[in-house]
Parts: sequence; C-alpha cells; structure tokens
Amino acid sequence: MSKKNHVDIISEDNAKPFQPPKIFKEKALVNDEKPYREAEKDRLAFWAKKADNLQWSKKWEQVLDDSNPPYFKWFVNGKLNVSANCLDRHVENGLSDKKAILFEGEEGDTISLTYAKLLKEVNKFCNVLSDLGVARGDAVTIWMPMIPEAVVAMLACTRIGAVHSVVFGGFSPDALKDRILDSRSKLLVTADGANRKGKVLPMKGMAEEALQLCPSIEKVVIVERAGSDYEVTEGRDLLWKDLMKNADENFSPAEMDAEDPLFILYSSGTTGKPKGILHTTAGYLVGVNTTHRYVFDHHEDDIYWCTADIGWVTGHSYIVYGPLSNGSTVFIYEGTPDYPNRDRFWELIEKYKITVFYTAPTAIRSFMRWGNHFPAGHDLSSLRLLGSVGEPINPEAWLWYHEHIGKTKCPIVDTWWQTETGMIMITPLPGLTPLKPGSATKAFPGIDVDVVDDQGYSTGPGQRGFLVIKTPWPAMLRTLYEDHERYEHTYWKQYPGLYFTGDGAWKDSDGYLWIMGRVDDVLNVSGHRIGTMEVESALVDHQSVAEAAVIGKVHEIKGHAITAFVTLKEGVDGSEELLKELKTHVGKKIGAIARPEEIFFTYELPKTRSGKIMRRLLRDIAEQRDLGDVTTLMDPQVVKAIKNNYSDK
Ligand code: WTA
Repeated sequence: MSKKNHVDIISEDNAKPFQPPKIFKEKALVNDEKPYREAEKDRLAFWAKKADNLQWSKKWEQVLDDSNPPYFKWFVNGKLNVSANCLDRHVENGLSDKKAILFEGEEGDTISLTYAKLLKEVNKFCNVLSDLGVARGDAVTIWMPMIPEAVVAMLACTRIGAVHSVVFGGFSPDALKDRILDSRSKLLVTADGANRKGKVLPMKGMAEEALQLCPSIEKVVIVERAGSDYEVTEGRDLLWKDLMKNADENFSPAEMDAEDPLFILYSSGTTGKPKGILHTTAGYLVGVNTTHRYVFDHHEDDIYWCTADIGWVTGHSYIVYGPLSNGSTVFIYEGTPDYPNRDRFWELIEKYKITVFYTAPTAIRSFMRWGNHFPAGHDLSSLRLLGSVGEPINPEAWLWYHEHIGKTKCPIVDTWWQTETGMIMITPLPGLTPLKPGSATKAFPGIDVDVVDDQGYSTGPGQRGFLVIKTPWPAMLRTLYEDHERYEHTYWKQYPGLYFTGDGAWKDSDGYLWIMGRVDDVLNVSGHRIGTMEVESALVDHQSVAEAAVIGKVHEIKGHAITAFVTLKEGVDGSEELLKELKTHVGKKIGAIARPEEIFFTYELPKTRSGKIMRRLLRDIAEQRDLGDVTTLMDPQVVKAIKNNYSDK
C-alpha cells in the first residue's frame, strides 16, 4: 500500500555505491543472494534452519507462536542452555585451546582465556553463585568495569538460569539503585574500582550509596581490580578471589526453556523511569548467533573487537553471546581511545592483529578530529572488516573510516538495531551488498522492515516516514520487565500490528534505507520535516567542523528554528566569519530551509556515557529551561560551559 505525500519527497543520493572488494567477496561467508531468497520464500523455515546451528537438549516443536500478539514465543518448547552453546560445545568440538578472550587493561596488563579455561572459570562462578543461594529465575545485578570477570559472571548466570541485569559501569549510584530495585536482584557483582584514564573510580564505594537503599541484595561479590579502598560489610561482602579459590570446576548447565528469561537490560525511554527490556533464551541466541556470523563474516582465525561496553546491548550481543556462540576470539579493552595517547586503539589493532573492528560514529568523529596522523602511525593491515553502530553515521565520517582505518580495502557494515531488537536488523552483508555511505542498506534476511507515514501506509521512494518492523523476529524483546502496559503502549499502539521503532527513515529507489534518527529528533520547520542528522551531516561536511548537534528550538512562526551546537577541529577559531560561512554551507548542502538560525561553538557536546549526544539538554539550554538530572552525562561540566556561553549571547 502506498499513499502519495507530495511534501515529503526528498532527493536521491546518487553517489556510486562501493562494491565489496574482490578478495573479500571471494572468501566471504555470504556472497550471493541465497539467504535473502530463502528467507523470502519462507521466513520461518529460514529461522528454523538457523536454529539448527545451536545445540539443543530438546528440539523445539513450533518455530513461532504468534497467537497472542504482541506477546510472541519462538522455538516453542525447545530446551537449551546459552553457556553450553557458548562454551561446552566448542570445547567438545576441539576448540579447547582456542582463545575465547584476549584482554588488555588500561595500564597494559594482559589476560588470555582459552575456551577450556573460560568454561572452568564460568563453572567455578556457577558453584559460587549456587552456594550463595542464587537459583534459577533469580535476578543478579552486574556493575563492573570492562574486565573478563564481567563476561564470566554473565555466562555463569545463564548457566544457572539466573537472569542478569548488567548496569553500565559508568552509571551513577542512583541509576544503579533504581535498576537494582526494579529487578529486585539478590546479588550484586562489582569491583573495588575501575581504571579510568590513569585514575581510579571507586566503584565499591559508590555501589555502597546504592546498596543502602536496596534491601533485596543479600550478597555482594567484589573483584579486586584497581586497588581501591572500600568498606566491608561483614556477612554481605565477599571477595571474588576468595570464593573462586576452592570452587569446583564442574557445573552442569541448567536445561532452560526457549522462552525462559535470559536478561534484563535497562534503556532510557521518553519518561524518567528506565525501561527494563526483557530478552529470553532461544530466540535471542539464534538471532545474535546468526547475525554475528553473517554480518561480521565470521572466520575461524578472526580476532574480533567490538569497542562497546558490556553494559550496553551491543556488549551483550556482539561481545559476549554472538561471537562466543560462534567460537570467535574476542578482544576486550578496559580503557578509552585517548589514554595514554590518542592512538591507543590503533596501537591495539596493530598489537593484536585485529581483523574485525566494530565501533560507533561518535568515536569515529573523535578520531577524525584528533587527526589522521594517529592511525597513520600504526600498521592496521590486519583489518578486513569495519562496523558502525549506535546512530546514523554521516557520510563524511564513513568516508574517513573507510580511507584512514580501512585503507579502502575493508567493507563497512553500518548496522541498525536497538536494545529492544536484541540483534542487528538492518545491515549490509559485507561480501555482497554495495555500500552507500550513510545508509544502513537493507533488512537482514528474515527481517521485515518498512517505512510508513503517520497513517501506517508504506511510503514511496524518497518519502520520509517512520521505521517499523512488520513481523516478529527471534531476538525481539518479549516485554518490559513487570510493565506489560508500557510495552504495549510504547511499541505496538502507534500502528496496530506493527512494531514501532521510534526512528524516522526513508527508502531510496534502490530500496536502501536511510535512518534519520529518533523521531523526536526530526524537526518541523515551516511545515517541512528535517532530520537533525541531515543538518549535522552538512555541518560536519565543512572542513572546520569536528562534530555538531542540531536541535529544534520552538519558534513562534516556523514551528521549530534550527539551532546548532558545533565543536571545531583542533586549532580552528570560532569567528563571526566562520559562523556565517557555516550557515551558508548548510544552506548550500540542503537548501535554505535547513539554514541554522543560530550556531554556537562549544569545546565538547554533552553526551551520555554510551556516547549519544543529549539533544534534550541542548533544547533545554536553548529554550532556557531547568536542566534537571545530568548525572548520566559523560562530562557534566560540558553542559555548564555551553549554558554560560549561551546566556552570554
Ligand atoms: C540508533 C544500540 C542509525 C537508532 C544498538 C536506534 C542507529 C537507537 C544505528 C537504538 C545505525 C542504532 N544507524 N541509527 N546504524 N544504530 N541507531 O537501544 O535511533 O542503544 O533506535 O541500541 O540508536 O539505541 P540502543
């Protein structure tokens, strides 16, 4: 169904697509249309076949039960264990000595764990958990730095059948408290401290602030990582190393039902209360196993590095469950890209001979801003594939990534997905899909996405609309933890029968999808819809600009006036002249309608700890509202600086 909407036609991107390099294509797992054809013919048969890649203790009876929407069940009555799929079966299949985890700490300390060793550690921690009274179905909160013990703790939960709730290590004690209370966790796994840019963040001390208000927590297990002092509550606080010392190295994996809860992961919504996104066992594992294999073109000798934190869904799906269920070697780094120097990541790629590198556009834009000489000083020739996730990647950043990191020989997989989807949903397949910088290209085989207008009709090429998912997919969230009503309301009420992603998008005439960002980031200027991302991309296209955030400031006549906050490249001064030049530049790139009304220069943009620009705060500043809670920001000082600067104008 298509409904004409004249206002919204936008121009095509006519740039010539990048074809997969010949050598890459020849060795790629997928280099023809077969998976798309199979999935088009019979979507459920496609997923059933993918489920055969896992090890089941009892085969499922039905692929999908969709009799009670929006509550779906996948692989009905199948039984399996996630940790057994990530560990035991590889050990049984001769991969005992293969490296599962290669770890490097901020100070250069290293750990490497083979699959056999990782299995032993997980088994030991299962016995520890079990002795501490954690049983099937109990919730366990994990609040840890990026260290191998975090992965061990997650896998041990899945082996016992406990439900983990990993909270990002950079969150505030208050945020930790809310998440513990909501999940009613019995046990907290944490660390004494985390190393961050040469300093120590006293995690246990901070956790204590939360624990005072969390009566459900019976025991706290502490990994000693950073040599930070902390107080011990006798009878409650226990040391990881003491508990693990004499723990038995064997533990039988619990036989879990396909639909048993696997984990809760909290994500921000439109209200203040975070949403507890609930994922279950089999569908999730089938989804991340398949997408990791195809999207990252899994090869046995890969050294795979996803730079996300374990506390985000990207860490869950593409550091832990996807790659380990495929028997991959996963590299984990504790620190940030700019400590001790701004070439830390490139140094690590060179040292570990990383082959697949998956990071976020915001990081890529920082790398661009720091300068080409940092990556140029290292041998990055081991890389064969690059990935991007988390927000739309502007073509300028894409091209820079392609040239300066991939040396034009690595395909880039721009992967669109959400905490809710669990798995990658829109993505190129690197040995097959011609790439257009800035487009996440097409839906993964077996996934039905569409772009619809406000009435729910499919839009035509070049028409802006809303991104929806038309049929259930294996790794979909099953509900919001203990809040079915919010689950139904947030995702299924907008367009009955369709899952609403909250993102704006459009399709070009080749059927390529272009994501415009969250719908609340789409502006309405004089009756025209403009994605904040489009304006940002135009600004970043200017040689002086490193990064830009655009918001719509409420405007009496136009609806919204475009206001831009811009960070300049090192060494560039923010003159009046440049301000005018930038406005003209945007006008030139998109049209007069998109010319920002106001531009402010700032040394940094306010970002959440996962690197997302907090546009809401910028809107509040521009509209001179109270800023409310800024504790989830990476650097709260940034907001103060912008605010002062703004009120000086
Ligand atoms: C955005 C992260 C454009 C999008 C995995 C989505 C993207 C939200 C992309 C989910 C991409 C993620 N291109 N936008 N490749 N990937 N997004 O839950 O707005 O942290 O709805 O999951 O990030 O963010 P979340």
